Amino acid sequence: MRNIAVFASGNGTNTENIIAYFSTRNTVKVALVLSNKRDSFVLERAAKHNIRSVFFDRKEFYITGKVLRYLLLYKIDFIVLAGFLWRVPDNILDPYKDRIINIHPALLPGYGGKGMYGEYVHRAVIESRDKESGISIHFVNESYDQGAVIFQVKCKVEPSDTPDTLAQKIHALEYQHYPKVIEDIVTKLPEFSVKSSEEA
Ligand code: GAR
Repeated sequence: MRNIAVFASGNGTNTENIIAYFSTRNTVKVALVLSNKRDSFVLERAAKHNIRSVFFDRKEFYITGKVLRYLLLYKIDFIVLAGFLWRVPDNILDPYKDRIINIHPALLPGYGGKGMYGEYVHRAVIESRDKESGISIHFVNESYDQGAVIFQVKCKVEPSDTPDTLAQKIHALEYQHYPKVIEDIVTKLPEFSVKSSEEA
């Protein structure tokens, strides 16, 4: 059994879908949900499933090491970003090298980068009159949406699609694929261990 932490900034439907998927399996445990928004609905979703959640502010993420301490305390093997909007700092990227993934609601390298999230992405795809969009699951590094892509799947964009209807199609793909991709990667990983110099 491997422990994962899910980071989310908003509604958290992917987080809840991941929690539900792993609640009936003995491969992976969602041990912690973390959010940088105190009033984000994802924290209520975690509570509903009796999963420990943590709110953190900018200082606790980038400076004091509070978030890393929680990850080590809960023996987190792997980190999943699901609608999380801050860049991950080096104090977490370094010990969790190749152990952090993100989902992006478009076909990277298109429509990525700072400020490209959620409905902004779908709006840009519709305005460009693209005929297809999709989801990208990728490793996280120091630049927004630029780590190696692990998985992509496409969907059609119809002329009648709006940012809302496209978001629904994309969310359906995310629910279908993200938990399985997580499981596939995490179950092949050796257990996480940190050198004592990295412990916060
Ligand atoms: C998801 O569509 C995810 O791909 C996107 O935010 C949404 C979160 O939905 N992430 C990004 O745009 C990251 N750049 P949710 O809160 O309902 O899971």
